[in-house]
Amino acid sequence: MHKKSSPHVARLQPSRTLPESLEELRAGLLGTPRSIPPKYFYDARGAELFDRICEAPEYYPTRTEDELLRRHAATMMRDCRPGELFELGSGNARKTRRLFDACEAQGHSCDYVPMDVCEATLEQLGSELQRRYPWLSVSPMAGDYNAGLANLPAATNGAVNRLVLFLGGTVGNLSEEHGRLLLGEVRDLIPAGGHLLLGADRDKEPTLLEAAYNDAQGLTSEFNRNVLHVLNTLLNADFRPEYFEHHAPYLPEKGRVEMRLVSTRAQQVQLPRLDATLELRAGEYILTEISRKFSYPELEQMLFSSGLRVKTHYESPDPCYSLLLAESRARTPAEEERSAASRG
Ligand code: SAH
Ligand code: AVI
Repeated sequence: MHKKSSPHVARLQPSRTLPESLEELRAGLLGTPRSIPPKYFYDARGAELFDRICEAPEYYPTRTEDELLRRHAATMMRDCRPGELFELGSGNARKTRRLFDACEAQGHSCDYVPMDVCEATLEQLGSELQRRYPWLSVSPMAGDYNAGLANLPAATNGAVNRLVLFLGGTVGNLSEEHGRLLLGEVRDLIPAGGHLLLGADRDKEPTLLEAAYNDAQGLTSEFNRNVLHVLNTLLNADFRPEYFEHHAPYLPEKGRVEMRLVSTRAQQVQLPRLDATLELRAGEYILTEISRKFSYPELEQMLFSSGLRVKTHYESPDPCYSLLLAESRARTPAEEERSAASRG
């Protein structure tokens, strides 16, 4: 019997100039506070650790979003009738399968374009989906969504109805400015008839939030420290992960959890590829991720300022999590100008 090969992983060409990785890492590590962009978490080991975090009892976002999708997928698919699902930061797309199941039950076929920085994840995802959903045409794309989305090919089957998915609360890992920029680009991908389905974690009791980012099995701590192994490979550096402690406080005044790696001693780290040495004091930290938590009005406002309008709000009971189905709204000429300028 003829066996189909795994879908080819294409590369999404940047449409915006980003600093090269080395420059980006130099600016972060040598800046104040020290920082590392969260996309570096996701080598094969980081992606595996993230999957395990999603199963941890304290980490409620994954199962809460999954339950919302399970309950509402059929209505969503009937409402959107997408010709293409394009997913930002798809990871293993486990929850997205709720949407494929709904399509299957409705006899509705569509294309699926998962996009992620982690190529290993995309390769595995492509072949798994092809086996489970033979009717689904899967075209994975490797790339960095911060480098712009304008080079995404037109909806692959020529249909206008594109549904962009940005799930898991990943929008919270972007600064306010980057979030608005990315959502503005999403808006340009969904002319009339298209939709965005955005998953976002809500502001809540600090003890619940801190438990979610400091799980008892130590998975989040491992995930956080793993980024130092990634940097050792990329920069030929000599970070010693055992000299760092995971710390993830919730900062109510900023409305976000911060993932930090706290240096347990005064130390020097050699960064040969940057031709630099990183000096750290005892107690000084490297910021590895922000995870913003939103009120509903903040979410509505963020979408509105990106040229989008909430069509349906699906909200879980405690611990609170939101799925927002949004569509594009008409922009004023001044907004159009500002949006074009910010995209560079
Ligand atoms: N959407 C999935 C995975 C969330 S984890 C879920 O809801 O469970 C975040 C995902 O975004 C990871 O798979 C990671 O590799 C990807 N990612 C992080 N930064 C990225 C970037 N700058 N560009 C593209 N993908 C990114
Ligand atoms: C991918 N992202 C939404 C996760 C979050 O909750 O911010 C990443 C994560 N960091 C620590 N645990 C999970």
